[in-house]
Parts: sequence; structure tokens; C-alpha cells
Amino acid sequence: MRRRIATGVDGLDSLLSGGLAEDKVFLVSGQAGTGKTILCLQYVLAGVARGENSVYISIDEKPSHLLEDAESLGWDLKKYVDDKRITLLDATPYFTNVRMGKEKVIDVRSIVTDLTKHVRQINAQTVVIDPIAPLIFSQEATAQVKEYIRSLIFSIEDNLHCTTVITSAIPSGTTRLCQYGVEEFVVSGIIVLGVSSIQAHRVRTLYIPKMRGTPTDLNDHVFEILPKRGIVIRETV
Ligand SMILES: Nc1ncnc2c1ncn2[C@@H]1O[C@H](COP(=O)(O)OP(=O)(O)OP(=O)(O)O)[C@@H](O)[C@H]1O
Ligand SMILES: [Mg+2]
Repeated sequence: MRRRIATGVDGLDSLLSGGLAEDKVFLVSGQAGTGKTILCLQYVLAGVARGENSVYISIDEKPSHLLEDAESLGWDLKKYVDDKRITLLDATPYFTNVRMGKEKVIDVRSIVTDLTKHVRQINAQTVVIDPIAPLIFSQEATAQVKEYIRSLIFSIEDNLHCTTVITSAIPSGTTRLCQYGVEEFVVSGIIVLGVSSIQAHRVRTLYIPKMRGTPTDLNDHVFEILPKRGIVIRETV
């Protein structure tokens, strides 16, 4: 049996037979503002609390914004960045040439080479890529983005030996599981964050449509976002 890596989300690990399967890649998806980044921050901070280091790659959001997001929840991410326990990287520049039409394909190999270097530098065991690809890609570029996502995830599983969480936005007004439609097939498991209506109240919900090798239920689990604790799944009675 593969070791399980706790997510740090109260109430989630028990739904996952202890956590995420070690060294595999998992998807956290949801529409804008559903809590994907908070879940990822929680995941890396849980790793740090266990003595494991992390590389957090942001795309479209500057590392300084991440530090502010964490601070608003009462988490001192900066301390761990300064101590070289967490490396924050902005990967947006990797996509600039493709986005501007100067290059035809996204250079997955150089992304993986750099990522591996950063992982080795701090001996990281957990990696986050939030989100997996920039949101603003033209329709024509979709095939390239899909190919980039597929080869990046396979390459991470083959080379990195890190338990990795990627995020992907779900376009609003759809019932899709992710943005590009390829992420869901190549990852080992999916956690979907959303909002549901219960008796005229809107509540935050989480469900697990896929988790290889793990018995899961398909229920919506209501959660809250609380200071210091982040995402906390409400116990069902
Ligand atoms: N300190 C906080 N306390 C409670 N709730 C918060 C706090 N900070 C943010 N939130 C809630 O969490 C939501 C944003 O969560 P988060 O940034 O993780 O979403 P996201 O899914 O990553 O969004 P995006 O798709 O834009 O990246 C906010 O819209 C807000 O409702
Ligand atoms: Mg986010």
C-alpha cells in the first residue's frame, strides 16, 4: 500500500482513507473563488508541520498575493519561505512566448527541469501548481495546452517523487470537472469545490468524483473557511 499524505484539511483525510497517495498527482477544481488556493496553502503548510518541504508554483497570481492570502487566514507563509522550507515560484513567464504567438509549443521539458531543480534544492516532498495553466489561452491554443498538461503530469509522476496538487478552474455555468477536459483523466484523483443552495442558504461544498484505489462516497460535503484552520468540513449528523 502506498503511504497516504494528509491534506491538512480537517474532515477530508478521513474521506480519503488517510490522505493522498504518495508521489501521485491530484486535481483540485472549482469555479472562481471556491477555495482552491486556500486548500493548496493548507496542504503545503500541513507538509511543513510534518517536517516536509514544498514547492508552490503559481501562475497568473503573484507570490506576493499568495503571502497576503495566507496572512488573511492568520498563516505565516513568509516565515517558511524565508527559512527555505517553501519555495514560491511564478511560472507565468514560461507561457508568455506562446501566448504572444512567438512560439508554437509550451516548453514542458524546461519547466520540468527547473521544477526538479527547485524540488532538489530544498528536498521538497510536496508540490502545488496553482493553476495548471494560465487562464487566458485562445481557442486555437487549446490543443497545445492539453498536450502540455498531459506531458507535464506524466513527467512529474515519472521524475519528481512528490505528492502533487494541481488546480484547474471550472468555467462558470458548466457541469465540467476542470478547464481543459484533460486534467481529469491524467490525475489520480479529483476534489471538486463548489457552492450549493440548501434551503435558501448558499453553502460551500466539496465532493470527490474520482480517487484511484480509494473507496469514496459521492456526497457533497459542506465546509467553511475559518481563520487559522482554513477549510474545515462540517461533520454530518
Ligand atoms: N481570511 C479568510 N477567511 C474566510 N474566508 C476567506 C478568507 N480569505 C478568503 N476567503 C474566501 O475564500 C474565497 C477565495 O478562495 P480562493 O482564493 O482559495 O479561491 P480560488 O478557488 O483559488 O479562486 P480563483 O479561481 O480565483 O483562483 C474568497 O472568495 C473568500 O470568500
Ligand atoms: Mg486561486
